[in-house]
Amino acid sequence: MSTDRENFKNGFTAIMAMAGSAIGLGNIWRFPYIVGENGGAAFILIYLLSTVLLSVPIFLAEGTIGHRAQAATFRAMEKLAPNTRWKWLGGLTIITSLIILSYYSVVGGWSIHYFKESLIHGFSVDGEGQFGSFISSPWAPLVCHTAFMGICAFVVSAGVKSGIERFNKYSMPLLFFLIIIIMCYSFSLPGAKAGIDYMIKPDFSKLTSSSITAAMGQSFFSLSLGVGCILTYASYLKKEQSLISTAYKTTGFDMTFALLAGFAVMPAVFAGGITPSAGPGLIFESLPFIFAKMGVVMPFTSRLIAVLFFVTIFFAAVSSAISMFEVGVSFLVEQHNINRKLATSILFIGCWALGTLCSLSFGPLDHITIMGRNIFGALDRITSDYLMAFGALLYTLFVGWKMKKSDVLQEMSPFYYNIIKWLAPTAIVVIFITNL
Ligand code: TRP
Repeated sequence: MSTDRENFKNGFTAIMAMAGSAIGLGNIWRFPYIVGENGGAAFILIYLLSTVLLSVPIFLAEGTIGHRAQAATFRAMEKLAPNTRWKWLGGLTIITSLIILSYYSVVGGWSIHYFKESLIHGFSVDGEGQFGSFISSPWAPLVCHTAFMGICAFVVSAGVKSGIERFNKYSMPLLFFLIIIIMCYSFSLPGAKAGIDYMIKPDFSKLTSSSITAAMGQSFFSLSLGVGCILTYASYLKKEQSLISTAYKTTGFDMTFALLAGFAVMPAVFAGGITPSAGPGLIFESLPFIFAKMGVVMPFTSRLIAVLFFVTIFFAAVSSAISMFEVGVSFLVEQHNINRKLATSILFIGCWALGTLCSLSFGPLDHITIMGRNIFGALDRITSDYLMAFGALLYTLFVGWKMKKSDVLQEMSPFYYNIIKWLAPTAIVVIFITNL
C-alpha cells in the first residue's frame, strides 16, 4: 500500500481536475448527437432535471466515499466496509471505466485526425461523405486511436500532481474561451435560427420511451458518474476541502459547457442541412461544413478557428480519458503495490486492444452486431445506459444505507442525504423497470 498518497494542491486545481474529467467528448460530441436523436429541447429539459435531481446527489455519494476513505474504488470500500462484498462494487466500476476508456479513445482519435486535417488541408464545402470514408477505413482511425491512448498513458504515468493536475489547470479555461467563439460564429450562419429553436422550443411529442433513460445516461456520462472516477478524484481532495462546493461547481461548469456546445453545434447542423439525428458522426460532419463555408469569406480566421476547435476537443477528451485511466491505475498501485508506470502500461495494452475492435467496427468489422448496433455502439449503450446507472445505484445504496449517517453528514446536508437514501435509488430503479 502506498503510504505517501498524492493530493490536489488546492481547491482551484481540484475543481479544474474534476471539471476536466466531466467536460469532454460527452459534452461536445455526445450531447449534441443524443439531443438530436431525441428531438431537441424537450430532451434537454429532462436532461437538466435529471442532472439537478439525480446527478448532483450521486456525485456527492461517490465523492463522500472517496473523500472520507482517502482511498480509491476497491480500497475505499475495504476501508469503509471491511470484510464485506462491497469491494466488488469497486471491481465492477473499474471494469466499466476501462471499457468506456476503450471506445472513448477511438473518438479521441477522430479528433486528432480532424485536427491534422484542419491544420494541413482545411475543409472544403463539398466535403460530404468524408467522415464516413475516414472512420470506415481500417488504418487511419486505428493509428489515431493508438496515438490518443498513448498520450493519455503518458499523462497518467506522470502522476496526479505533475500529470493530471498540471494538464487540467491550463486546458479547462482555454476550452470555455474557444467554445464561446465557435458558438458566436454558429449563431451568425444563415439558417441558424432553426437550430436555436430546436434547442429552446420543447416539442414533447418527439420524446420516445427510451428518452428518459437516455437523458439520465447522458447526465451520468457527462459527469463521469457511476464508475468511480469522481470517487477516485475526491480521494485526492484534501480532507479540509469542501466536497459540496466542488460538486456544485463541477456540475455547473459541466452543464454550462454542454449547453454551449449544443448551441455551437445545432445551428451549424441546421444551416448545413444535416439531420440532427445523424448519430455519432454529427459534429464531425457539421463543423467541417461551417468551417468550410466560413473559409470562403475569411480563409485565415476560419482555418485558425477550425484548428483551435479540434485542439479543444482533443484536450477536453484527454482530460476526461485520463480520469478513466486513473481509476484502473490507482487500483493497481494502491491495492497491488504495482509501480505507476507499469500499471499504466498493463492497462494501456488491454484498453488499446478493446478500442481497436471498436475502431474496426465502423469498417472491416461492421458485420458484427450486438443488440442491433456495431461493437462501438453496443459498448457505449451497455456502459452508459446500464452499467453506469447500476454503479450509481449501488453507490447511493452504500452511502444511504451502509455508511454511518453522522459520517455522511460531515460531507453534505440532510437534504442531500435523504435524496441519496430514498429518491435517487428509487428513481434509478423505476426508470430501469419502465424501460424494460
Ligand atoms: N464525462 C466525460 C465526458 O463528458 C467522460 C468521462 C470521464 C466518463 N470519465 C468517465 C464517462 C466515466 C463515463 C464514466 O466526456
